[in-house]
Amino acid sequence: MPTTGYCGRVPPFDFSRLRRFPDVEAPNLQGWDATDELLVREALATGIRGDEIAVIGDEYGAITLALTDAGRHGIRVHQDLVTGRRALAHNAAALGPAGENPDEAASDRRVGSRHAAGGPDDPGFAPARPAFTSHELEPALLAGARLVLLQLPKSLAELEEIADAVARWAAPDATLIAGGRVKHMTLAQNDVLARCFQTVTPQRAERKSRLVIAATPKRMPEQPPFPVRAEHPEFGLTLCAHGGAFAGAGIDIGTRVLLGVLAQVPTATTVVDLGCGTGALAAAYALRHPEAQVTATDRSAAAVRSARATMQANGLADRVRVMLDDAGSELPSGAADVVLLNPPFHLGASVHEGAGRRLIDAAARLLRPGGEVWTVFNSHLDHRRALTRAVGPTEQVARTPKFTVTRSIRRG
Ligand SMILES: C[S@@+](CC[C@H](N)C(=O)[O-])C[C@H]1O[C@@H](n2cnc3c(N)ncnc32)[C@H](O)[C@@H]1O
Repeated sequence: MPTTGYCGRVPPFDFSRLRRFPDVEAPNLQGWDATDELLVREALATGIRGDEIAVIGDEYGAITLALTDAGRHGIRVHQDLVTGRRALAHNAAALGPAGENPDEAASDRRVGSRHAAGGPDDPGFAPARPAFTSHELEPALLAGARLVLLQLPKSLAELEEIADAVARWAAPDATLIAGGRVKHMTLAQNDVLARCFQTVTPQRAERKSRLVIAATPKRMPEQPPFPVRAEHPEFGLTLCAHGGAFAGAGIDIGTRVLLGVLAQVPTATTVVDLGCGTGALAAAYALRHPEAQVTATDRSAAAVRSARATMQANGLADRVRVMLDDAGSELPSGAADVVLLNPPFHLGASVHEGAGRRLIDAAARLLRPGGEVWTVFNSHLDHRRALTRAVGPTEQVARTPKFTVTRSIRRG
């Protein structure tokens, strides 16, 4: 059981050197917060070895790299976003002893360093245990873990899936320390944790962050709570969702507006659902156009797992390719006939136009000249102008009180 109220020295790790890259960077966005620092301080106070620590939701690597910098090796890490995975790898490569081969930066798994006293030329050199390894939300992430550090996720469903996984797979005496910014924390989060742990103890707030300590995992039902599944007969679709997926197994109102005009989207050979979430748009298009080659891609592992389950549930598993990627970076330029786009308008907890702009720019890159991007967005956002600038002529196809659908044609 970790000690609390630890008064030791905060590790001399320079958090300010962390970058968010390749995620959106801006003067008002930084690569760590006070919660990361509190989590690191508590973890070091427990004295638990690195190979018994799992870190979940480490946005850009702050927790992992501060712990490895303090000599904790063999940490296991799960980050939902591929942008976070790449940022951790880049930060590790840039920040010295915990660095790793930047060629491994693009790899989604097995990142980690040789944090040894000497280098390969040192006669006493023996490859050390990697400083950290990356995992999906899977048993290997948590098996034998006695301490799990968690940056609280945005949604209760995501928290429920994580808390269940920790109680299900970590050591029987595991402690989960979850932290967040006070303004985003709710009592409902404690209730979710209490469904999986015997005791849930919120700590005093510090620097506008708070930790909650959940101890003594409960026995979980045999059937994990996710993925969930819902039928949508009005669209002829079944959707499946893991905890972290946008809109769960439901259909968001913006998505509904785009689905409502899907019949007008031209018949095409190469189609990309960019930021696919649970895959509603990709699945609906593929069902309507059996000849199309459809790729659904998202930067969230929970979205990708959900979209794969959705394709399976709709008999599309062999027709729709689902990829974990940042803004379609691994797809060829100028090859898509149609892009379907329901871009995000949040970066973390804040509304930020940059989130959507990144996918608009990506759509422009992916489309062939004359290809079309069909976009749905919250009407108060200035995306129409951004689409015209990045892609080409843009017309409004539908508008509801909240949402606008546009069609933009890629200029040659
Ligand atoms: C508003 S949701 C739309 C989901 C789905 N297309 C729908 O209509 O239900 C936006 C999606 O974009 C994804 N996303 C955000 N930034 C991304 C990026 N840089 N690369 C890929 N996907 C991204 C999010 O993870 C989220 O699933």
